[in-house]
Amino acid sequence: MPSPLRGLALLALAASTATAGTLSVPVYRKARADGIPPLTRRDGTINLQALNNFTAGGYFAELGIGTPPQNLVFQLDTGSSDTWANSLHADLCGAWCLQTLDPNSSSTFKTVDRGGFDVTYLDRTHMLGDYFNDSVTITGKEVKNQKLGLALQTTRETGIMGLGFSNNVAAREPYATIIDNMVSQGIIEAPVFSLYLVYNLPSSSVTRIIFSAGPELTMHALPQNDVDAKSGTILFGGVDSQKYYGSLTTISFLNVTQSHSKTSTSYTIHLDGVDVDGVGLRSLDAGAILDSGSTVTLFPGGLARDIYKRFGVETIPILSIPLIDCAYRGGKGKGITFKFRFNGKTIIVPVDEMVLNIFNDDTQVGFQNSKYANQFKGWDNVCVFGIGSTDDYDIKSDKFVLLGDSFLRSAYVVYDMANKQIGIAQANINTDKSNIIEIKKGAKDLPNVAGVPEQNSAAGDLGQSMAAAAAGTFLMAVAAIVSTT
Ligand SMILES: *[C@@H]1O[C@H](CO)[C@@H](O)[C@H](O)[C@H]1NC(C)=O
Ligand SMILES: *[C@@H]1O[C@H](CO)[C@@H](O)[C@H](O)[C@H]1NC(C)=O
Ligand SMILES: *[C@@H]1O[C@H](CO)[C@@H](O)[C@H](O)[C@H]1NC(C)=O
Ligand SMILES: *[C@@H]1O[C@H](CO)[C@@H](O)[C@H](O)[C@H]1NC(C)=O
Repeated sequence: MPSPLRGLALLALAASTATAGTLSVPVYRKARADGIPPLTRRDGTINLQALNNFTAGGYFAELGIGTPPQNLVFQLDTGSSDTWANSLHADLCGAWCLQTLDPNSSSTFKTVDRGGFDVTYLDRTHMLGDYFNDSVTITGKEVKNQKLGLALQTTRETGIMGLGFSNNVAAREPYATIIDNMVSQGIIEAPVFSLYLVYNLPSSSVTRIIFSAGPELTMHALPQNDVDAKSGTILFGGVDSQKYYGSLTTISFLNVTQSHSKTSTSYTIHLDGVDVDGVGLRSLDAGAILDSGSTVTLFPGGLARDIYKRFGVETIPILSIPLIDCAYRGGKGKGITFKFRFNGKTIIVPVDEMVLNIFNDDTQVGFQNSKYANQFKGWDNVCVFGIGSTDDYDIKSDKFVLLGDSFLRSAYVVYDMANKQIGIAQANINTDKSNIIEIKKGAKDLPNVAGVPEQNSAAGDLGQSMAAAAAGTFLMAVAAIVSTT
């Protein structure tokens, strides 16, 4: 499906002579709430994939693999570097595998490392298979001879597009990633991409819990239709100055040592502090991973506990995830904003971005009739909180933060791989306008192009105006959820 932005990208290309260009690719959210197991702790920790499943999390883009292109959706993951697809011949890939690649139907497919693909993610999903080389078509442009993973044993329903550095691939030897090859094959000039994510739940994404045998809960899947909702853009090779307020602040990546042998994390920056409504740590002094593959944002245990207390967050045994009064999406949350402080730049996240309204009406009634009802007394409804505690994921460091989608939607982030830095600004969250600036080969700095003027520099006011701007989309999303039963 051609996006309106792509038209603009092509115009930009036509205007600037002899440049490689930019590629603007629409991003979607997919409702995948089927097969939800209970979110009880395993090995003492919560399973991050289960939580992502549960919140219908993740942002996806379509890539065409092979010749002719087989169009498959891939989850965009800034936390890893391999791009891979589920094979038609994969084990365990039953009805729940969303789409699979049929290698035999591609005339350019060649296996390059049989059995060499072996990757484990932070959410503990583990894929095994081969590496192969084939063409990748991205909104009409073709990257040739790209090395990719072919999962033959898989526990994920879609493949992943790894947006990290090549030295973080799971293979023994680093290889050129899609972004590297986009540069070397002249599709874009510089290894840069900009991510703009919008909160826009597909109408089919709603979670129902069956309250069986009185007060006990069992999780149940609703049959899902895949209704995709356009939810942002990934722009390769450039920056879109209509998508952010003010100016981009540049922050260098921290040098990270890989903590898990086959788990890659790369885009780590220094987070000075985070606070909300007087709670939090202005001098948290943490390494924060930008991870579009995670629905939630994770804070060190102590900080998470303080924030839970401020918002009256509750957990119940079977769910083990933080639950919050949905009223924080409305009046109760009005004017309350999280402030993430980076190197002199503050990114403001309105509290309603952190309140995920994912349970259907039956489930709400179930909560009120369960033995946990007391914990939700006086609540409008039960929502999931977009902040988790590292304690629940077996991460010991008190200087570790993971900035997932609940944060990333409020930020416009430019990942400048050549200069090992990001550009970050407050996202202009509700716009279809576009002004794409290409980034040239060898550029040392991000373009110094002003975004949309900040009407109010006062942080609180900005939060308010953003919340107002968001209200349209936001109400639509809520209506969609409520109407799905
Ligand atoms: C997530 O969902 C997929 C398919 O919907 C399922 O196969 C997988 O087991 C789920 N993961 C977890 C950890 O529950
Ligand atoms: C695809 O090719 C492989 C190896 O070439 C072969 O073993 C397999 O049977 C083929 N599968 C189909 C569905 O044609
Ligand atoms: C496969 O692709 C990678 C780049 O992604 C390249 O480095 C490698 O040489 C290719 N292998 C073959 C056999 O073409
Ligand atoms: C990371 O390491 C490189 C070389 O090892 C060094 O030049 C750079 O300054 C380091 N960056 C930071 C943020 O420490």
